[in-house]
Amino acid sequence: MMSERVKIIIEGKTFEFPVIVGSEGEKAIDIAQLRKTTGYITHDPGFGNTGCCRSAITFMDGEKGVLRYRGIPVEQLAEHSTFVETAYLLINGHLPNREQLTQMRVLLNDSSMVHEDMKFFYQNFPRNAHPMGILSAMVNALKSFYPIYDIEEEQTYTTLNLISKIRTMSAMSYRMSRGHLVIYPRPDYSYCANFLNMMFDNPVNPYKMDEDLVKALNVFWILHADHEQNCSTTAVRVVGSGKVNLYAAISAGIAALWGPLHGGANQAVIEMLTNIQKNGQSIRQVIEMAKDKKKNFRLMGFGHRVYKTYDPRAKIMKKMCDMVLGKLKKKDPLLDLAKELEEAALTDTYFIDKHLYPNVDFYSGIVLRAMGIPLNMFTVMFAIGRLPGWIAQWQEGMEDPEGKIARPRQIYTGAGLTNYIPLGER
Ligand code: SDX
Repeated sequence: MMSERVKIIIEGKTFEFPVIVGSEGEKAIDIAQLRKTTGYITHDPGFGNTGCCRSAITFMDGEKGVLRYRGIPVEQLAEHSTFVETAYLLINGHLPNREQLTQMRVLLNDSSMVHEDMKFFYQNFPRNAHPMGILSAMVNALKSFYPIYDIEEEQTYTTLNLISKIRTMSAMSYRMSRGHLVIYPRPDYSYCANFLNMMFDNPVNPYKMDEDLVKALNVFWILHADHEQNCSTTAVRVVGSGKVNLYAAISAGIAALWGPLHGGANQAVIEMLTNIQKNGQSIRQVIEMAKDKKKNFRLMGFGHRVYKTYDPRAKIMKKMCDMVLGKLKKKDPLLDLAKELEEAALTDTYFIDKHLYPNVDFYSGIVLRAMGIPLNMFTVMFAIGRLPGWIAQWQEGMEDPEGKIARPRQIYTGAGLTNYIPLGER
């Protein structure tokens, strides 16, 4: 929607630019003609003030702690929906009716197996290879095993092929890293139950499915399903803007998510809590360390580029910790430590002044630990959850009438014209 215009005065000359107003009232200055009309570009490291697209998929209000997928609050989806239904919502723009949901479940089941030749890739990774590196490589390899050359067909078949297989491939990397038998997907299990079974089933001691854990896994993946233009999602859109296949674009998203400042934070939180416990550090010591720039230490799982209040996903995740641990009759000292850290941080002026609150990663690792997911698989769990969001965003980018190949500008700060000096004269 276009409405008023803004005026910018540059070197005494006035330039006007249109204002774009989003459906929730967010406003942007449309600077598409800025360089052509003024010769200037903008400078915005980390793009914190820059919109790269118009999107109808996810709405976040960082000040109010609001998160909605296609307009539906994430709290309602976590309570009433399933991950497969939420994936359908994100990708298709509306909740499925019974027939559409059944058809999606059937197609996900049909494409849940992985080409047997892919096992040779897994067998040749070093045993201690990080599952995120394996996943990024194997998703990219899917194009070679499932070549589709029709973009229409790619958007339907590849989408479901990816959503179904990412589960199988993730469980495979875990099983093969331990030298265990690969467990195949079962047609009689739901999406989440199948993943837990492929991870933990054992012919000698069959995995006992626990419906509360299946529900917890649905909620975990619903909470991770999309988050508008974060680091990895924008990576998927940028790579997709070159019109490469979807597998390659998603592989780039997995690589971006791996970083400890992004999706790798859930693993980093548990490592941080474990170190605090092992080193016998007090809560006060940790809080002071996080405030001291010289210590190069951050309270992992705290802070967010957009949320300047409690991340709505962290609230649900925190409740899930108590539910899952209670159901399993387990206690986790790291949960008690996390709650004490949160309480101390939220009453400390440094954190209050900088609007630093728990984000989705602060409690998510506790839930994964309770489910028995190994630490090095935590970010893989995030990637499986985020996949429908990446796909929806990639698709929207491909269909964007304003869409073109991503090619930002820069401000050059290097040497002026310099002549080549032959080797003998240097
Ligand atoms: C995810 O973007 C998304 O939507 C991401 C995500 C998604 O769903 O896709 O929500 C998932 O990535 C969540 C974030 C997970 N990362 C972490 O938990 C790592 C720890 N957090 C930070 O490194 C940091 O808060 C970020 C990376 C999350 C946000 O960084 P910003 O917005 O660039 O903020 P910043 O680094 O400029 O920090 C602002 C100030 C700085 O102090 P000053 O220089 O102003 O004095 O806050 C301080 C920072 O030093 N600060 C922290 C802190 N986070 C920010 N100080 C201590 N501990 C922290 N965790």
